[in-house]
Amino acid sequence: MPEAVMELAKRLNGIAIISSDLQESDLEGTDIESVTAYIVNFFKDAPGPKILNKQMLGQIMQSHVQEAIIRTPAIQKPRPQNPIQPNFSIRNLEVRKTGAKVADFAEYFNNRLERLKSIIISGRNANFMELQKNVDSIKQLMNGREIGIIGMVYDKITTKNGHILATIEDGTGTAKVLFLKPSKESSKEQMRLFAEADRLIVDEVVGIRGRISNPFIMANALIRPDIPIKQRKRTEEDMAIAFMSDIHAGSKLFMEKQFRNFLKWINLSTKYNQETAEKVKYIVISGDLVDGIGVYPNQESELTIESIYRQYNFLFELFSEVPENIEIFMLPGNHDAMQRAEPQPSLAEEFLKDMKYKNIHMVSNPGYVTLEGIKILSYHGTSLDSVIHGIKGLSYSKPEGAMQEVLKRRHLSPVYGHNPIVPSSTDQMIMDQVPDILHMGHLHKNGSADYHGTLIVNSGTWQARTSYQIKLGHMPTPAVMPVYNTKSMELRNIDFNLMAD
Ligand SMILES: [Fe+2]
Repeated sequence: MPEAVMELAKRLNGIAIISSDLQESDLEGTDIESVTAYIVNFFKDAPGPKILNKQMLGQIMQSHVQEAIIRTPAIQKPRPQNPIQPNFSIRNLEVRKTGAKVADFAEYFNNRLERLKSIIISGRNANFMELQKNVDSIKQLMNGREIGIIGMVYDKITTKNGHILATIEDGTGTAKVLFLKPSKESSKEQMRLFAEADRLIVDEVVGIRGRISNPFIMANALIRPDIPIKQRKRTEEDMAIAFMSDIHAGSKLFMEKQFRNFLKWINLSTKYNQETAEKVKYIVISGDLVDGIGVYPNQESELTIESIYRQYNFLFELFSEVPENIEIFMLPGNHDAMQRAEPQPSLAEEFLKDMKYKNIHMVSNPGYVTLEGIKILSYHGTSLDSVIHGIKGLSYSKPEGAMQEVLKRRHLSPVYGHNPIVPSSTDQMIMDQVPDILHMGHLHKNGSADYHGTLIVNSGTWQARTSYQIKLGHMPTPAVMPVYNTKSMELRNIDFNLMAD
């Protein structure tokens, strides 16, 4: 038996019998591992004897023609536009693992508390600073005394009278803080305070001002670390940044036709929104580059490419068609091939062996990318699930709402536990720098807003609605790409569903 046919027979291991009309030449230039996977898939539900003949192999290969196309090496072409040199820097967040002992988690939480506390104190609250005390030291104080504390929310309950009772801990002890339910006579400020208290989530760090009324502190102010109000940076150069996320290359639901529309668009081969395409100098991609393997049960039935390496090859082949003078930044997400715990390092070298494109840069998740002086904090957004579930009034249909809450808390993953975080002596998920743009994905839904001068962008997805999303009633917005002009400060959504072929 010829060599390739013998290898195939070995791999099939009796799942199908190879007919004698199948020749070595029929398998020439193919990847036996992938061909085996297609054949196994093809015969999965077939009744009767499973005999693989020449004609059947042809059929199977034809149905995976997409794979054959991606093997063709693409040639990158520079675009005549964008003559100005790129100016960018990347700050990858370090993944410094510690042990998983109680002491290591204690060190992590202590770092979170102390750093967010210093952000609250260094904020705009001189009055608050004078009042601020350790929880332990307020126990001896008289009723009526005004104090301030800073701590982490341990829990929050609504009493039977409708007041909110929060337990706050600061490392020296815990305090019970009461937010009174407003009445018709309450001032707007009291109503606002109660609404803010209603949005408290466990593990967030807050400052409380109030009066001692043993055994409680009656709150009269709630202070979050928040981001200051500032002027967003803009550029002199008339240029644009395109944002993408959740490409899910390798999924049956990856919208390849629309993605190829994008490739035509970025190569200026269409008149459709060409004036925007001409300006694009950078592309930032916030995770779920590929669909991955084994991310959820029976995922293989929803894949067109069942090898993780080939999923990345396919992704890079697609992006090789982007002109080489457009710089591309790629972060991983929860579907990519690496640890789930965040921060996630940039994509490992083993997936980049065949990727020779100098304009594609790998970034950690989360990571900071500064483009022409404009600071972008890009994060996949896995924590948004727990933020949406934890805070009343937020929903999957408006990702910008959840992203705003994250900015207020100066922490990308404020609820501990739902979304795994690498225990480390420094909490890397704290936003120690205020970005001009906060970019996320994960929810597969476009959304944008301005908050205190920071532009919030969720760049949606390139994957059609999944059965999981149908079950949950989520409506994604696939193949709609936000493009931000850094001179005019205009954000436009380019809809590739509407572009003619
Ligand atoms: Fe995704």
